[in-house]
Amino acid sequence: MKLGVFDSGIGGLTVVKSLLEHQLFEEIIYFGDTARVPYGIKDKNTIIRYAIEAVEFFKNFELDLIIVACNTVSAYALEEMRENSTCPVIGVVESGVLATSNALKDKNSNILILGTKATVNSKAYETSLHKQGFANLQAKATGLFVPMVEEGIYSGEILDATMKHYFQDLEVPHAVILGCTHFPLISEALQNYFGKNTLLIHSGEAIVEQLKKNFTFHTKYKNPELKFFASENPEALRNVAKMWLNL
Ligand code: DGL
Repeated sequence: MKLGVFDSGIGGLTVVKSLLEHQLFEEIIYFGDTARVPYGIKDKNTIIRYAIEAVEFFKNFELDLIIVACNTVSAYALEEMRENSTCPVIGVVESGVLATSNALKDKNSNILILGTKATVNSKAYETSLHKQGFANLQAKATGLFVPMVEEGIYSGEILDATMKHYFQDLEVPHAVILGCTHFPLISEALQNYFGKNTLLIHSGEAIVEQLKKNFTFHTKYKNPELKFFASENPEALRNVAKMWLNL
């Protein structure tokens, strides 16, 4: 299977990390729209336009599947991407919801959804989680984490102050949905902030669960071919990829 992975920037690498751990694909082509990140502060039409451009880019590669490793795009543009794509397109919101319902047996669990402003405004998670019977939901737009992660800030004073700014008035949740693929890069800091009793739900692991539910994988690929593309400064993206994916 030849896979395309799309994100606005480097966040989708957290999904690639999980995909590599499970050795599901023979070839992975990653595209990060680094020239235009962040998407999470942009409006719906702009997000859709950028997402369709990504589909056009992927047409150069004869892919079998595209994973939209971006919650913001998954929340707004999945349908439009599917209409323009010659291969199936799957997003991370659905898999995040699947992972949440698998992990939490108590429907009254207090769930905090973190995401970009666009993802939170879309209410994509709330809509799907309500259908699964979860009612105790709160969502918080925490977009400042995106440039921090793009900047390589995964811990330290600035991050601590930002977490305090966003979370100090919230009660400690049972679970936090990392509803932005950039956020697993700061999961250690988030786990320390909320404490070990709070479960963090990560899109990357969730998507593997979703893939295994929908497709049959016969072969394990220990050394898949990886190609990284970016709309600006691909070298920087490749460096982060090398570090984060231990390449
Ligand atoms: N990584 C993206 C997401 O999952 C968005 C970051 C952004 O471009 O704002 O939503």
